[in-house]
Amino acid sequence: MILRLFAALCLTLFAHAAPAQETVALKTVAWKTGREAQAIERRIEALLKQMTLEEKVGQLHLSGRGEGFNAARIREGRMGGVMNFVVPQEVADVQKAVRESRLKIPLIIGLDAVHGFSTYFPLPLGQASTWNPELIEQAAYWTGREAGAAGINWTFAPMVDVSRDPRWGRVLEGAGEDAYLGSVVATARTRGYQRGGVATTVKHFVGYGAGEAGRDYNSTWIPTSQLFDLYLPPFKASFDAGSMTAMAAFNALNGVPTTAHRDLLTGLLRQTWGFKGFVVSDFGSITELRLHGIAKDDAEAARKALLAGIDMDMMGDVYDKHLAGEVKAGRVPMKALDEAVRRVLRVKFHLGLFERPDVDPAAAPALMQTQEAREVARRAAREGTILLKNANETLPIAPSVKRLVVIGAMAVPEAERVWTDPAGLGRRAIQSLPDALKERIGAGVELVYEPAFTKNCGTEFADKDAAVRAAAASDLVIAMLGEDCEFMGEAASRTKLGLPGVQQELLEALVATGKPVVLVLATGRPLVLTWADEHVAAIVQTFHGGTEGRAALAEILTGEANPSGRTPMSFPRSVGQIPVYYDHLPTGRPQKIRQRYESIYMDEKNEPLYPFGFGLSYSRFAYANPRVDRARVATNGIAEVTVDVTNTGARDGQEVVQLYIRQPVATRSRPVRELKGFSKIALKAGETRSVRFRLEAAKLGYHDDAGRYVVEPGRFEIYLGGSSLADAKTAIELVKP
Ligand code: BGC
Repeated sequence: MILRLFAALCLTLFAHAAPAQETVALKTVAWKTGREAQAIERRIEALLKQMTLEEKVGQLHLSGRGEGFNAARIREGRMGGVMNFVVPQEVADVQKAVRESRLKIPLIIGLDAVHGFSTYFPLPLGQASTWNPELIEQAAYWTGREAGAAGINWTFAPMVDVSRDPRWGRVLEGAGEDAYLGSVVATARTRGYQRGGVATTVKHFVGYGAGEAGRDYNSTWIPTSQLFDLYLPPFKASFDAGSMTAMAAFNALNGVPTTAHRDLLTGLLRQTWGFKGFVVSDFGSITELRLHGIAKDDAEAARKALLAGIDMDMMGDVYDKHLAGEVKAGRVPMKALDEAVRRVLRVKFHLGLFERPDVDPAAAPALMQTQEAREVARRAAREGTILLKNANETLPIAPSVKRLVVIGAMAVPEAERVWTDPAGLGRRAIQSLPDALKERIGAGVELVYEPAFTKNCGTEFADKDAAVRAAAASDLVIAMLGEDCEFMGEAASRTKLGLPGVQQELLEALVATGKPVVLVLATGRPLVLTWADEHVAAIVQTFHGGTEGRAALAEILTGEANPSGRTPMSFPRSVGQIPVYYDHLPTGRPQKIRQRYESIYMDEKNEPLYPFGFGLSYSRFAYANPRVDRARVATNGIAEVTVDVTNTGARDGQEVVQLYIRQPVATRSRPVRELKGFSKIALKAGETRSVRFRLEAAKLGYHDDAGRYVVEPGRFEIYLGGSSLADAKTAIELVKP
């Protein structure tokens, strides 16, 4: 709610900004090393010695713009961070308040710049659909630069929660169902943001994406081996890429709320992984420890969180109110408080905040939506678009189409956004789909637009009949439907994964006209598209493409661009299949002939509608000669795997070459497939390329029930292809060194 207000403010701020020279020095942030790091430790100790108990607690207090915000607390040295400030002048004001405080410790200034700040990139799930880490890094880089130019120095991103449950509304913020893809994306996003000048917060530590039944904030039950193999790798990847902070999750993991999970926050994160940054709670999650039933009051909640390893209290005011008292009463040792403060100061020093000049509100507008940022946004939207179905080569739009109708309010951007979109999309004109198409279709083609609904969400009709009439009079129908408004994002869990509102009714009426229908989806998750798959001619999936989304769509629909997005999550055939994911274990009763006593459903197939890693192209790709450079590889060695990929189509295109492994016999039952590498390549029509992967044996292992990592010798099958159904096959034998 509050964030929508920010959006409006931002809109006014930047809308009419005249271009100006780039005057703000934007800094890459990264952990400093060696002497510089040692000098920082000395500065931290010197500062700690000067701080009162209240000033120490103040560093752990993160407060947000809006009702109840009290800048006087900054002057008193009793606020260490602020969040949700997006107006540079307001940032300048809080920075001024710091200079009026006794110790002048700079504020860390945080924001959920989840998929953009001024320029919007596709939702993170849509970015993951590009399978292009370089592009994903650039999107984060430009987000960091724009946010940084507005004075923000910390973002609550990337969210790296692996999820196999599209009922959960927050799958849109992650990279989908897979640990490997998730780790590659986590690395790219962490690097990009920090290169762009803002510290990252890898979140939500850990298991938030596994909430029972897809219900947000719900408990998770994750066995140790799965925690280590599936949920933790993207976090580890982000820390390895230098993430300076982490956020704990809302959920209880195996019965212990992660906000008070000492084994995770201190044992694993600090002691085993050596993380030196700080951990922030999620919004109010410390006080929620009472509701989880592990603290009788806020004072106990504060104590438990701090002693578990939560350094900063986001929006709970619980540390602010109770920590000093807990220390005075001897229930929280000063040593523990000092350690938390040390971590916060460490990040501030490594970020360079003590040396950074305050934001320059006059310079900020010119740094928003630059040409470069918009180009990256266009590429990301283009490459993240997934062609799921294309019967009879309905797409690209054929020259024989003379009357084209675009249907759906979603085709024209409107101001309403989800909360992950705090700064709003509308600062500069965003092209509508009809306008972007008009620019690209021949002068002889008539284009009609019918919104059909009153709003993007498609919950009520504006004029259904007009839409159906226009469809009936056309040669091709493009219906842009999907999820918007309250249907996706945080606290938007759904048990039905059809098109919201009255959209299905419209889709059926459009199909009934007998005209070919192209269904273009903008959603926050994989929906159940089983009916659509049977009835429409083509399906194009986007996860809200952002500022350049509709222009990129027009490029794809007209064939100016060739689709190259791939699914980062399996698309279920029905909600009853969930969780459905590609790297499941085999069973002792696999499906053979579809009879009783096999691991099957009576009323549905086992397979998803669209598998993980899947996406069509206007080109076709053929795989040949899968091979390895050696048949036997030491468990600490490396194999080189090669496959020849040919574009057998008539158009230039991009293919995502994917490498999966399987260990058919091991001590434990191992997944039927596991992604271990991928490479996105561009191939001209008719071109063949040998694509090589370095397969490190050390990365082919798994964790046991005690969380120990093992690489087991034995045979490993290797599959190469354009999805998780890859069938070009080779193998290696892992042997003891
Ligand atoms: C979300 C976090 C987010 C925070 C601040 C919470 O509700 O779970 O991911 O960073 O709000 O907006």
